[in-house]
Amino acid sequence: MLPFNLKAILGEKYNDEFFSNGDKYYEILESEGILIFNSFISNNGLAILQKEANDLKDLSYKSSSKYNVYVSEHDSSFSDNSPRNRIMSTSKKCIPNDLIPDNSILQKIYDSKIIRSFFKDLLNKNELYPYSDPLSSININYYDKGDALGWHFDNSDFTITLLVKNCEKGGIYEFFNDMRYKDGKEDYGFVEKILDNKVSGTKVDSFEGDLMIFKGNKSIHQVTAVEEGERILVTFNYNEVEGIPLSEQSRKTFFGRLK
Ligand SMILES: [Fe+2]
Repeated sequence: MLPFNLKAILGEKYNDEFFSNGDKYYEILESEGILIFNSFISNNGLAILQKEANDLKDLSYKSSSKYNVYVSEHDSSFSDNSPRNRIMSTSKKCIPNDLIPDNSILQKIYDSKIIRSFFKDLLNKNELYPYSDPLSSININYYDKGDALGWHFDNSDFTITLLVKNCEKGGIYEFFNDMRYKDGKEDYGFVEKILDNKVSGTKVDSFEGDLMIFKGNKSIHQVTAVEEGERILVTFNYNEVEGIPLSEQSRKTFFGRLK
């Protein structure tokens, strides 16, 4: 059963019955690559989360990172400007898990057995575990004017996000569903068209309070630069295996520390 304190901050339709039906969404997620649960958080819950994110922002770590869309080492058998090696960039600010208070709604959602089992069912996973390091399980990400998330494929199989605050202009999530491989090989040709802006992907209409689940390792995606206002996005990060930390390199890049 959902505890009373969670019921009070979740959107109306997200009740025990809803969370017991996660497997209904598995096939939709597989075919569409994305699931959006609108108004997952009630207006009341949203006001609490926005205040909390605001209060924590001063403590956030600002990062700028450069990488190729595969988030892997440069491959010298391709040119620097090839889709394999071309440099993308991301800039944002981040609050790691250990700065999010234990009594935060975010910790309650992350730790909720019923919600975790819902995620497990819709992702068709046996188990979901927190990261073993103190920083990586829940993150609050802030994108201010000019901040963006460049095109990339995720290393992890899925991402769970909650939009806490939407910016007024820019900050658009765009993706191409399940396009990574062609005949079992990386489709560099298509990636090149994307990077050269010759094709445009699916743009997601995001609203504050929406929960989004995205399969990002076969679907290239980006968030365009914020042009006006501020975008705040929480990520709930889980592992399929127990006792795994986020890589040291990622922790250094996004949190500026290892623990
Ligand atoms: Fe991603």
